[in-house]
Formats: sequence, C-alpha cells, structure tokens
Amino acid sequence: MGDQQRDYFHSLFSLTGKNCIVTGAASGLGRQCALVFAKAGANIGLVDIDNDGLLETKKQIDRYSGTVFKQQLDLRDSKQVFQAVKEMGKELSTFDVLVNCAGVVIFKPVFEQTEKDWDSVFDTDIKGMWLLSKEISQYMIKAKIKGSIINISSAVSCRPQKNLTPYGACKAAVNHFTKSFANDMLPYGIRVNCLAPGGMLTEMVKEFLKTKDGANAINSVPLKRFATLNELDACLLFMASNAASGYMTGSVVHLDGGLCIAPLET
Ligand SMILES: NC(=O)c1ccc[n+]([C@@H]2O[C@H](COP(=O)([O-])OP(=O)(O)OC[C@H]3O[C@@H](n4cnc5c(N)ncnc54)[C@H](O)[C@@H]3O)[C@@H](O)[C@H]2O)c1
Repeated sequence: MGDQQRDYFHSLFSLTGKNCIVTGAASGLGRQCALVFAKAGANIGLVDIDNDGLLETKKQIDRYSGTVFKQQLDLRDSKQVFQAVKEMGKELSTFDVLVNCAGVVIFKPVFEQTEKDWDSVFDTDIKGMWLLSKEISQYMIKAKIKGSIINISSAVSCRPQKNLTPYGACKAAVNHFTKSFANDMLPYGIRVNCLAPGGMLTEMVKEFLKTKDGANAINSVPLKRFATLNELDACLLFMASNAASGYMTGSVVHLDGGLCIAPLET
C-alpha cells in the first residue's frame, strides 16, 4: 500500500484532537470505546456513576490520549447532568462526539418485575441519554461543530427476549429516540446514529450466561457466540468520524451475529 492510500485510510478513522465524551466509561463497552477513541487520538471525558471504575479506565488510557479526565455523575439526575456538562465544557471547551453507552439491564420474569425495575431501566438507559444529548448538542451548536452522537441500543430492541421486557422496550425507545433526535439535529449538521449490539462478553451479561437462559441465548445467535468487545471498535470509529460516516444520520446499525435475522423458534 502506498503512502497516499495509507494516509487516506488513516484519515477516515482518525479522531486526532477530537473531543469525545463517553458514558458508561467505567466498564464494559464504554471503557472499550474510550480506549479505542484514545488510541485514535481523541481527548476523552469519561462519564459514569462508578468512580472506581472511572479511575481504572483513566489509568488504562492515560498513555494514549491528549487529555483524559473523569466525570462522576448519575445520568438519571438532570441537575447533575447540567452541572457536569458545564464542568466538562471547561476541560474541553466544546465537544465533537458523544457516545451514550451507560445502561442497566434487569433480567426478571414479567410478573416479578417491579415499578422500581422499570424506572431504573428507563431513567438510566433513555432519560439519561436524552438529558446528556440535549446539553452536549447545545455546546456543539454554539460552537458550530458538526458533531456525532452515538447511542448504544441492543439487538433486543428488535428481537424480544424472555425476562427482558423493560430493557427491550427501553432499547426500542432508544432506536426511535435516535431517529427523532437525528431529525431535530438536521439543521445543525449534527449526526445522530445508533449501534445495536447483540450479546457481548461483559460484566453485564456474565451472570446471565451461567443460567440456562444464557446458554439458550448463545445458541439462538446465528453465529453461535457472543462478541468480544473489540469487535465493535471499527464500527464505533466509523460512526464517530465525519470523514467516514458523514452521510449517515438516523441509522440503527445492528452488530449482532445475525440475531435480528434469526428465524423465530417454533
Ligand atoms: N453486554 C451486552 O451483551 C450488551 C448487549 C447489547 C447492548 N448492550 C448495551 O451496551 C451498553 C454498555 O453495556 P455493558 O455491557 O458495557 O455494561 P456494563 O454494566 O459493563 O456498563 C454499564 C455502565 O453504565 C454505568 N451506569 C449505570 N447506571 C448509571 C447512571 N445512572 N449514571 C451513570 N452511569 C451509569 C455503570 O456504572 C457501568 O459502568 C449498555 O447500554 C447496554 O445496554 C450491552
């Protein structure tokens, strides 16, 4: 490959100097996303409720990135979100990319689910997403930045699974929110897209995989396995980079081992 070609491919996926905020950065996919963005040259604001996890992530990515800082915050609380964005604005002045990755999942048979379970999932996985997107996009608009917002959904959003009613309903809402918010952001050139992974080998699913339902879940994936976290790297970089995905907005990208096209059991 010649230098010109190499430069072209590098420019597609480089985030050099870009200011990126990643939620859920204390663990799992959020940590992996922060890591890959840092390797691509971004400045990173790490957001999560879990301070110890944030410290560990920061330790892991400090050596790659320009600026890395952590922002502990409960995304369910609008006051905290507003204040945290103000503080992050002082660190980075403005923002190019937001990845809304924080989330909780509740596995429970439908008649055991409580009001608290539903509130917990909807407050974290979609209300928090909206609150932060609203604040961050206003900074982007003020600075005339054609930013990219990436919302993390799930294959469960389009293929319901047992014991996951609030989570599945909420992730379906994330898909719709992505399209609605993308529409709202069109006048400002801010792109909003959604990544819907299938099963990934993370803390969130570790316990679940030990159960009979977990084994069935693996078996129901057409590719017969869960993804390793780094299998999402290229897709996240693609969606973040205006050079790579500048023509894409309002899309839901399924990266799920074929789960959404699997034939339903009879
Ligand atoms: N693990 C999977 O197989 C899988 C599959 C599809 C989609 N997803 C989605 O990917 C995203 C990340 O999942 P993961 O597997 O890395 O989970 P994880 O549990 O490892 O990470 C989720 C993070 O969100 C943080 N968080 C929870 N509530 C918060 C709050 N109120 N405020 C701020 N931070 C909060 C947690 O502290 C945690 O660090 C989630 O949105 C999840 O729904 C996961």
